[in-house]
Amino acid sequence: MERKLRFAVAGIGGMGKAHIEGIRRNALAELAAVFDINEEFVVKCAADCGLGKSYTDFDRMLAEEEIDVVIVCTPDQVHRDYTVRALRAGKHVLCEKPMAQTVEDCREMVRAADETEGKLMIGQVCRKAPGFLKAKELVDAGYIGELFFVESEYAHDYSRIPGSGGWQWRTDPVLLRHPVIGGGCHAIDLLRWIAGNPSEVFAYANHKMLPSWPVDDCTVAVMKFPHEVIGKVMCSIGCKRSYTMRTCLYGSKGTIICDNTSPEITVMREILGENGEYLTMDHEKIPVDINNHNVASEIEELIDCILHDKPVPTDGREGASTVAVGAAIVESAAKGDKVVIDYCF
Ligand SMILES: NC(=O)c1ccc[n+]([C@@H]2O[C@H](COP(=O)([O-])OP(=O)(O)OC[C@H]3O[C@@H](n4cnc5c(N)ncnc54)[C@H](O)[C@@H]3O)[C@@H](O)[C@H]2O)c1
Repeated sequence: MERKLRFAVAGIGGMGKAHIEGIRRNALAELAAVFDINEEFVVKCAADCGLGKSYTDFDRMLAEEEIDVVIVCTPDQVHRDYTVRALRAGKHVLCEKPMAQTVEDCREMVRAADETEGKLMIGQVCRKAPGFLKAKELVDAGYIGELFFVESEYAHDYSRIPGSGGWQWRTDPVLLRHPVIGGGCHAIDLLRWIAGNPSEVFAYANHKMLPSWPVDDCTVAVMKFPHEVIGKVMCSIGCKRSYTMRTCLYGSKGTIICDNTSPEITVMREILGENGEYLTMDHEKIPVDINNHNVASEIEELIDCILHDKPVPTDGREGASTVAVGAAIVESAAKGDKVVIDYCF
């Protein structure tokens, strides 16, 4: 058997713990170290995981422990810093989405990956959600014909997300985090994965649901995708509904309606007769698992890429492209004009 890869997890809040569970379930991985700036959290986490030691100093952890891969699960605002430090220390990195808050930070991370031997994966986990995987497979197989319109929503009520130890990094007015880049990146990345890179965007935003938050809480963006496909992303972090990412993919022969929180996806297709005449509209319900934080699958893929020296599908340039679209949406809504998206990293 190939040797186990040794993982460190940086930031052991909700997602850090999910990644620790993903490592535990993988026969080719082992948890070597945990790091967090909250000493109480990290000491408890290390004890729970059977580790003799925990770290509140990232560089000390890199120096003292034998580590192959660092998983960065810290707040978005410090993804760049930890990712670059880990890559420059000779490690592979799985960085949670969004890759960073700005395109400039993404460029620095791409440069660090290019200049080192390290693999860089960005955790665009919607690409691992069973409903979206099925939808992508059907689109690629031509099941609904040629796409002409794609839309996806990131609908979440952030006022219900508990902070980490009372500190809400998602709302910090200094470490400004825009929900389109931080959360809407899921919907943006999903549409990019299915329909390609949009060239330009026009967006509107408002601030009616979470007035005490430092940024707009609802944004709608329309975009031009390749092959004359048009698309729409909606990101609301104050909506009164349960978290979901409703997504509709419209093709010349049918339509897929899917999300990451339902046990099935719906495919509607025209059924035609022998002479091409319209007979009926078929409604097919395809059962899928619900697994919208499938980080175990990301870890498995990264291990395969490392052990067999394969390119990482959601590498730094992919993560940066999603951030670039998000940044263009925010810019468009602020200036009230269309923005052409720059994919130069
Ligand atoms: N893939 C997904 O669907 C998904 C879902 C939720 C969050 N996320 C992403 O995962 C990351 C973590 O989110 P979370 O929900 O686990 O947050 P969280 O608030 O639950 O945990 C964050 C942890 O980071 C620690 N931390 C804060 N500042 C730090 C710093 N400067 N250095 C090191 N550690 C620091 C905190 O003490 C806390 O333990 C974020 O980037 C977020 O956008 C991804």
